[in-house]
Amino acid sequence: MRDPLLSVRDFSVVYDVDPPVEAVKNVSLELRRGEILGLAGESGCGKTTLAYGIQRLLKAPAIISSGSVEFHDGTTGETVDVNALHPEQMRRFRWDKVSMVFQGAMNALNPVATIGSQLEDVFEIHRPGMSRFERRRAVVELLEIVKVGGDRIRSFPHELSGGMRQRVMIAMALALRPQLMVMDEPTTALDVLVQREILAQISQLRHEFGFSVIFITHDLPLLLEISDRIAIMREGEIVELDTAERIWNAPKHDYTRTLLSSFPRLTGERGVVAR
Ligand SMILES: Nc1ncnc2c1ncn2[C@@H]1O[C@H](COP(=O)(O)OP(=O)(O)OP(=O)(O)O)[C@@H](O)[C@H]1O
Ligand SMILES: [Mg+2]
Repeated sequence: MRDPLLSVRDFSVVYDVDPPVEAVKNVSLELRRGEILGLAGESGCGKTTLAYGIQRLLKAPAIISSGSVEFHDGTTGETVDVNALHPEQMRRFRWDKVSMVFQGAMNALNPVATIGSQLEDVFEIHRPGMSRFERRRAVVELLEIVKVGGDRIRSFPHELSGGMRQRVMIAMALALRPQLMVMDEPTTALDVLVQREILAQISQLRHEFGFSVIFITHDLPLLLEISDRIAIMREGEIVELDTAERIWNAPKHDYTRTLLSSFPRLTGERGVVAR
């Protein structure tokens, strides 16, 4: 495998309820540096559980019942066993190395704080050495990068459209220049045009900054546009993982074909989003 960033091996998660739910079953995958890996599958197949699991974000009743996750740090050259990190190491790992845009994230902004101060908080917590001035400058730069505009620094969440709020969440995830961004349904609530703009931008930013993306959605056509490779998940398992081209042109698994055929609006060439 050429330059892997993340190696997931035989990874399983069980929700310890009655009866137990085997949400993720023996998943293995390698994420490459700089690639966008799409994760598709219908509601309840285990996408969010897998995404949380590989970042150690799961809480009880979830139990990691098998497997390992290795992160190959491009900055230090070290390989990190994610399951073995101590709480303090884990906290740094989560923001510095890996960041997450949560499902429904744009509604998670604090309604009574400006977006500028919420972005500044990230630096205040994780970069305590930065001065107030440096933080401000970094926040303005981030707002420019995600095309919200630095002049919106004093805006409150309700003054922004859904698309803009989602861009703020992406800015937050980008803040510490992580090597991996996990995005769980980041554009689902947005209209198609805004979705496409944001996707194009994510794609461009990863070229610029070189991070990898795990992009989760049940919207397979969207993934075909943005992803380098796509993993198809069903009932906790990855049933097919291949390049977006091959998933689209020559799906091997019956379930992939079923998923593709359930999107009648999918016509013509793939690649509407500029890559
Ligand atoms: N806290 C929990 N306790 C028990 N079962 C859970 C819990 N969280 C999730 N599950 C179950 O685990 C399975 C996988 O859920 P998960 O949220 O990972 O799916 P998903 O693919 O992200 O779905 P969606 O597309 O709706 O977001 C589902 O059967 C779900 O009901
Ligand atoms: Mg989910």
